[in-house]
Amino acid sequence: MTPPKRAPVRKKPSRAPTPARPGGAPIETIPLAAGKKGHPALGLGLWGLGRWTPEDEARTKATIGRAYERGVRWFDSAEVYGSGRSERVLGEVLHRTATAGSDTFVVTKVSWEHLRPNQVRAALVGSLERLGRSSVDLYLVHAPDPHVPLAETMPVLEALWKEGKVGAIGVSNFSEEQLEEAARHLAETRLVVNQVRYNLFDRDEADPVRAYCRAHDILLEAYTPLARGLLHGRYLDGKRIPTEVRKFAHRLFEPDRLPEIVRRARDLRALASSAKVPLASIAFHWLRAQGAAPVFGASRPEQIDENLVAWSVRPPAGVLERADRIAQGVRA
Ligand SMILES: NC(=O)c1ccc[n+]([C@@H]2O[C@H](COP(=O)([O-])OP(=O)(O)OC[C@H]3O[C@@H](n4cnc5c(N)ncnc54)[C@H](OP(=O)(O)O)[C@@H]3O)[C@@H](O)[C@H]2O)c1
Repeated sequence: MTPPKRAPVRKKPSRAPTPARPGGAPIETIPLAAGKKGHPALGLGLWGLGRWTPEDEARTKATIGRAYERGVRWFDSAEVYGSGRSERVLGEVLHRTATAGSDTFVVTKVSWEHLRPNQVRAALVGSLERLGRSSVDLYLVHAPDPHVPLAETMPVLEALWKEGKVGAIGVSNFSEEQLEEAARHLAETRLVVNQVRYNLFDRDEADPVRAYCRAHDILLEAYTPLARGLLHGRYLDGKRIPTEVRKFAHRLFEPDRLPEIVRRARDLRALASSAKVPLASIAFHWLRAQGAAPVFGASRPEQIDENLVAWSVRPPAGVLERADRIAQGVRA
């Protein structure tokens, strides 16, 4: 195992005030083991914001704008999202705000197809151009490429960090072995994040890396925290599930799993209702209790409002424990 390169920093949410947000609690900041800025505890992901038609783009801008207005500062994008449109739209919206350069936490990712040394640098240049900024706060390897050794990729990322173009370095969809290998090729900084699919129903990626990440002060960012809306109570009453939701939700919506997942989600909805909390509060705060920072998706401004209300409600620990068992199929 690669020893940590600096003294570990405990990831306790800071008490530092975050931007005022009408109608909800502020989003705390989690200190990172390296990097200039703290990491917001909740973020907005900009992958599936729309189908990238002109109307969708207007709605996407309104959604990002609403998130910023309401205090969201962590925005997660990638060069592959909408083939660069996600980054461009984010850049356009943030440019309208006076302080967006300094108070946001902008994350983007280099594609698994661009992990050769010359490609990494070119990919970041393209992302920065689209975002309209000179640096990003966190740059992630979107996923490993089994054909490109991390010994080629990581030193370039470190060079970009030294040049100040990248505030911190992380990865996504990495196993423990891949995390160890990536860490081995960083000399002066360290990995601070592993972004993985993680929600009450879907723990296959996160569970095997949790202990390693905790031991090495690597924050787990949880994508698909709402199970594409299931953990908002969507699709529980027979409504048709759109193809793109089925397609991009991993195995949750596949016919062999769906009836059981829907049954458990209905039980979770009943638990939320008896505890008088939104179902999404349980989804978010269960992740938080596991030490993960959720990055949710939203395709309209109202969803931002609802999700921030859900974040501001903290379900009691007993409710989260009960939810944990229900999601795993343990019947009362
Ligand atoms: N690193 C990776 O490989 C990777 C992979 C996947 C995702 N991600 C990141 O994680 C982010 C989130 O992923 P995700 O979109 O799968 O997460 P998610 O939060 O589980 O699902 C988002 C979807 O849930 C529905 N939803 C959200 N708020 C809602 C509300 N208040 N009421 C009802 N439905 C609501 C919306 O569906 P509709 O739009 O259909 O209304 C929304 O698009 C992505 O944008 C991306 O940044 C990273």
